[in-house]
Amino acid sequence: MKDKLLEEFISSFNYDNRLAKYEIDTCIVWTQLLARKKIVDSKKAKKVIQQLKKLKKNIKDKLVPAEDVHYAVEQTIEKMLGKDKELAGIIRTARSRNDLVVSDERLMIKDEIKEIIGYLKQVISSIIEIANKNLDVAMVGYTHLQPAQPVLFSHYILSYAWWFVRDIGRFRNCYTSVDVSVLGSAAFAGSSFNIDRFYVAKKLGFTNLSMNSVDAVSDRDFIVEFISCCAITMMHLSRIAEDFILWCNPNFGYIKLPKKLTSGSSIMPQKQNPDYLELIRGKTAKVYSAVVGILVLMKALPLSYNRDMQEDKVYLNLAVDTLKDSLQVVNKIFCNVEINKERLEDDLRNYDFVLATEIANFFVRYLGFNFKKAHKKVQLLLEYCWRSNKKISELLSEEYYKIAGIKISEKLFSELKNIINPQKIAANYKTYGGSSIKEVKRQIRELKLFLDKS
Ligand code: ARG
Repeated sequence: MKDKLLEEFISSFNYDNRLAKYEIDTCIVWTQLLARKKIVDSKKAKKVIQQLKKLKKNIKDKLVPAEDVHYAVEQTIEKMLGKDKELAGIIRTARSRNDLVVSDERLMIKDEIKEIIGYLKQVISSIIEIANKNLDVAMVGYTHLQPAQPVLFSHYILSYAWWFVRDIGRFRNCYTSVDVSVLGSAAFAGSSFNIDRFYVAKKLGFTNLSMNSVDAVSDRDFIVEFISCCAITMMHLSRIAEDFILWCNPNFGYIKLPKKLTSGSSIMPQKQNPDYLELIRGKTAKVYSAVVGILVLMKALPLSYNRDMQEDKVYLNLAVDTLKDSLQVVNKIFCNVEINKERLEDDLRNYDFVLATEIANFFVRYLGFNFKKAHKKVQLLLEYCWRSNKKISELLSEEYYKIAGIKISEKLFSELKNIINPQKIAANYKTYGGSSIKEVKRQIRELKLFLDKS
């Protein structure tokens, strides 16, 4: 009598069936190898391969559910072979589900990394586009979420692109760790059959071979590494989400999202909430929990294979699906967001104390103050402004003298007035990698080069 509870408990089919196409590819190559090495009769092998190829064309309809994807493929092939069903048994020679599952997962992750890198590149291009369209727009930049200094909006937004350049680098390094063929390790000890592991690796597109069969079937560090890469990218997406959520609050008003990228309220008719962004932030938790989940799953497991590891796919799928969806949604947001230049400019006027650093720089340059002294003097001016509700950009030279004891000639004062223009300041941080038009253009060139060559 079947025990449904036990059957379902042991089954991974619901979450490993996405490995089916890799499983089938592997079965084809494996059967070819067995025939080449004369371990099985080549006519029999041909019949099996024929059915495997047929199954690959129509996995969705043909694949019969079983305990896991490996048994599902085997049992489906048996069914498809009809009277020759016995032949399906040849594929099992010199291999085990233990090395098969690792091989399937490695093949899947290699494909997923390629897809993720594609999405990351799209996001980088969309950011470049926004920067290009708003090259010389100035804004208030923030540290501690407090108005800090004027910067170019293009420079600010391009910082996100560099996050993703590094994410791509991390995924590429991870690809190298994943790109290892383990087939031939069998249950954990290898096999006494004359198996050509190099042939199998080459046919399946693996670059390297595992060196120890016990290690090959028992570790999942490559999955931990991959999920960690996903988590780092989600961290980046969550930070963009947070910035954008703030920026579409009317107190900032720096950006506007189109209706399709917001969601209304069932009670407050005026609402257009940034729910997609909030969900990017929220779904980051899933990917972080996947990192913790896989680490806990693997903690203190004895050698070699243990069935616990079947659950690795729960975390793998969670991380990869959440990340891929989130990247595509973020890209839609970058492609459709409207930048409100007027509001960015308003805030430069509202928070004109962001000019303070440049006034101190002026004192250093033209009055020979050391920076500490200049900083103190500007602080005096600022306190005066806040007490008397004035803007620092509107102070008269007499006030500089009265409040901070600074004597400035008429000529120098008009020079100062000329310098403390937020747009000019924002476009003039000449340092390599700073917020100047020239540097922003260089960044865009570098980013485009990166996209072209990679
Ligand atoms: N579905 C299993 C997994 O993912 C396959 C390996 C089962 N191996 C075994 N010896 N019971 O880990």
